[in-house]
Amino acid sequence: MTDKIRIAIDGPSGAGKSTIAKNVARILRMDYIDTGAMYRAIGYKMLKNNISIDNLETLRHMLGDTEIDFSDGNIILDGEVINERIRTPEISKIASDTSAISEVREKLVALQRNMAQRKSVVMDGRDIGTNVLKDAEFKFYVTASTAERARRRWLELTEKGEAIDLKQVEADIIQRDHNDSTRKLNPLRKAEDAVELDTTGLTIEEVTQRILEVIKWQS
Ligand code: DC
Repeated sequence: MTDKIRIAIDGPSGAGKSTIAKNVARILRMDYIDTGAMYRAIGYKMLKNNISIDNLETLRHMLGDTEIDFSDGNIILDGEVINERIRTPEISKIASDTSAISEVREKLVALQRNMAQRKSVVMDGRDIGTNVLKDAEFKFYVTASTAERARRRWLELTEKGEAIDLKQVEADIIQRDHNDSTRKLNPLRKAEDAVELDTTGLTIEEVTQRILEVIKWQS
């Protein structure tokens, strides 16, 4: 393989992207960048500081004064490890709303491109193959049926001790799919040159293997 390799993995919520991307990065010894966690971090900070998405002036100011980094598998916001704190339904919702704001996307996309310049990366999100890393060496679009994605998300939340109804999780996913794919700025979309993988009924290992096969076959 050449000097720096960029692998873009996009897809809707709950398709298994992050676990798959993390696996691929570990096996190929690359950095893993979870761009969804970055939108969640901004949502978390807005909630914490009581900043509404209509208050653009304050939001702009806040963005100028925000640092996000990844280190040893942790996401760090202004020096604070926020891993678990950003994995709640409330933050999922505010992250999706926040991600439609152009100032937020500009800041995060610049950061993401900067991160991908330093090292070989596996980056997952919604607009990596279509926008952030348009010229990535490898692009994947990972999907699964809505029912399966809701079931996976519900299991994840239940295992963490959250009492939540499966139907509610499914409704939230449908709403987020709608928001993420209909927003004006870089909506969720499969890049023309991305390999599409439907993970319904497949294990994480099977999908990881499939991605590794494509990478080996093409390189
Ligand atoms: O992947 P996730 O569920 O952690 O992402 C949280 C939200 O962030 C998601 O609803 C849409 C947004 N997002 C985005 O707009 N662009 C990305 N590259 C990644 C996430």
